[in-house]
This record gives sequence, C-alpha cells and structure tokens, in this order.
Amino acid sequence: MTTDADISRAAETLRRGGLVAFPTETVYGLGADADDAGALARLYAVKGRPGEHPVIVHVGAAGQLDDWAAGVPVAARRLGEALWPGPLTLVVRRAARVLDGVTGGGDTVGVRVPDQPVALALLRAFGGGIAAPSANRFGHVSPTTAGDVRADLGDDVDVVLDDGPCSVGVESTIVDCTGDELVILRPGGVTRERVEDVSGQAVGVRSGSLVRAPGTLKSHYAPEATVLVVDRQDLTERATALLASGECVGVLAPGPIPILPTGVVVLDAPTGADEYARVLYARLREADRRGVDVLLAVPPPETGVGVAVGDRLRRAAGREHS
Ligand code: TXA
Ligand code: MG
Repeated sequence: MTTDADISRAAETLRRGGLVAFPTETVYGLGADADDAGALARLYAVKGRPGEHPVIVHVGAAGQLDDWAAGVPVAARRLGEALWPGPLTLVVRRAARVLDGVTGGGDTVGVRVPDQPVALALLRAFGGGIAAPSANRFGHVSPTTAGDVRADLGDDVDVVLDDGPCSVGVESTIVDCTGDELVILRPGGVTRERVEDVSGQAVGVRSGSLVRAPGTLKSHYAPEATVLVVDRQDLTERATALLASGECVGVLAPGPIPILPTGVVVLDAPTGADEYARVLYARLREADRRGVDVLLAVPPPETGVGVAVGDRLRRAAGREHS
C-alpha cells in the first residue's frame, strides 16, 4: 500500500516543513519536523490544539532518546531498551535544544519509538524526530485508518501514508519518568504490570485530570454521540427508557447481549480486550455515522489493554474529572 517512493516523498515533505499523517501500531499520527518551529505551529493550528499542550516526539531507535532528553534515569533507559519499538511513551527531562513547540513550554518531553513498519521506514528516511499527536481534530476520536484521517483533517494534511488499520487501536501508555516514582499518566498498549516487571519498580497511576496532558481532560476521545458507560445488566432498562424519550440508542457491549427493544443500534464489540481495543474508535465513529444520539457502552474486563479501553470510554463519556 505504501511504496519506497511514498516514504521518500513523505520525508521530503517533513523536511520542507509540511505535515505527514502516518500509521503507528496505536493510532495514526499527524507528524511534523520536531526541530521546525514553523511546522509545529502549523501542526497545532491544524489540530486546533491549545499551544501549551506538549506533543510526543517519535524517533526511529531507542538510542535516539538522548538526542531529546537530559539525564535519562536508569528506569527510563531500561523501559526504552526493553519495550521499544512499542506502544510506550516515556516522559523525561528535555534536552536544552528541544523547542517549546514540542514541550508546550514545560521542562519535560515525551518520546516514543513506534512499532509499525511504515512509521519506522519514515523515521529512518527522515532521520530526525517527528512530533506527532493523534491525527484527529482536538478532542475528537483518534483515527485508526487513513480514511479516518482524511475524514477529519481533509486537505490540511499534505501527505497521508496508508498501511491499513492500526494493530493496537488505542494510544500509547505514557510513563512519567521524571519523579522519584514512575507514574502512568495514560494507560495504553503496555500494561502497568509490564512496566513494573521491566523497571523493577512499583508504578503509580495518575487518575483524573492532568492539565498538561489533553488526553486526560474530562471529555476527550469523544464522538458526537453522548457516551454512557453502563453495566451489562442495566442495558435493557436504560435502552428502553432512552428509546421512549425519542433518542436513537446504540449499544456497544462485549459478549452476550441481553434482549433489547427493537430499534436499538447494536455495534459489534469483540469479547477479548485486545480485539475490543482494536475496534473501539471505529465503533465510536460508526455510532456517529448511524445517527446514534446516546451510546450505551459496556467496557471489557479491566485486564491488559482493557484498562485503556475502559479509560477511553469513561473519557468519551466526559466523566473522568479530577
Ligand atoms: O500512541 C500515541 O501516543 C499516539 C501516536 C500517534 O504515537 N500519539 C498520541 O499523541 O496519542 P496525542 O498528542 O494525541 O496524545 C499524547 C498525550 C497528550 O495528552 C499530551 O499532553 C501528552 O501525551 N504528553 C506529551 N508530552 C508530554 C509531556 N512532556 N508530559 C506530559 N504529558 C505529555
Ligand atoms: Mg490525541
């Protein structure tokens, strides 16, 4: 789907200050040269993202962490060496040369090596760091296909590299490595247990809102439909009441679905957490396409990447307050 010529053209576009959307294993990213202040300004404008929010720098190999960080802690180095390429972002102290357009003016920087062949080919061809948030407008559902990127950003993006649907489907796990204790700022494709195993340390979890990370704002990753996180046993009653008040009701629930009133839009949710994560954002988009007003969502069991799915559903529901 993506040729060597496409990769070269995309790398050239980045060098000229352009914007390139590219697949990662988590979601599609909207990339700009992390060393080009003008390109970063355009990236923020296209995303519609407030200027003080930091973006993740994507690099091609763990060895490049030191190009962006100052004084990498042992635990962070261990995590990068063991889990990169992979769905993990490490927040470390920034090197002095890192632009404010990347850090949002703060003194830390998020770095990750994505585990996706097209992303890695692009990073190799480009050579430097690619600053990339998810390739959606601020606050919307992250894109997991090239078509989603085009639907959200249209011609505001210069090149879209297409390598099919993302394999993980939810964003990377963000680990803050700047304090005495490692802290997960956003759950994702790498579990807390794995971070603890590899680092040999206990790992904290930040819940609620963290101003510097928009993915932790109260309503984020959200479709047009109102999302309500519910228990399976409440589905029938909630759906019936909402239908009676004239709403178009959708249901997203793994495993056996109870008997629902006719007219409810049933979206397919796989039983396994990995599979649920892979299709989550596509289902939220489908709910909007099918005119759903209220989506009743049952999260998967909170194990593995199921923790991240539950987190995103609650944030889509706008209920994750500090
Ligand atoms: O999987 C991912 O991480 C995807 C793909 C494209 O790599 N990227 C992504 O980027 O989700 P974005 O910008 O949509 O979400 C990154 C989150 C934001 O909430 C941002 O504020 C936070 O990471 N972040 C970035 N740098 C940070 C830093 N230095 N300190 C704290 N949070 C940071
Ligand atoms: Mg995002």
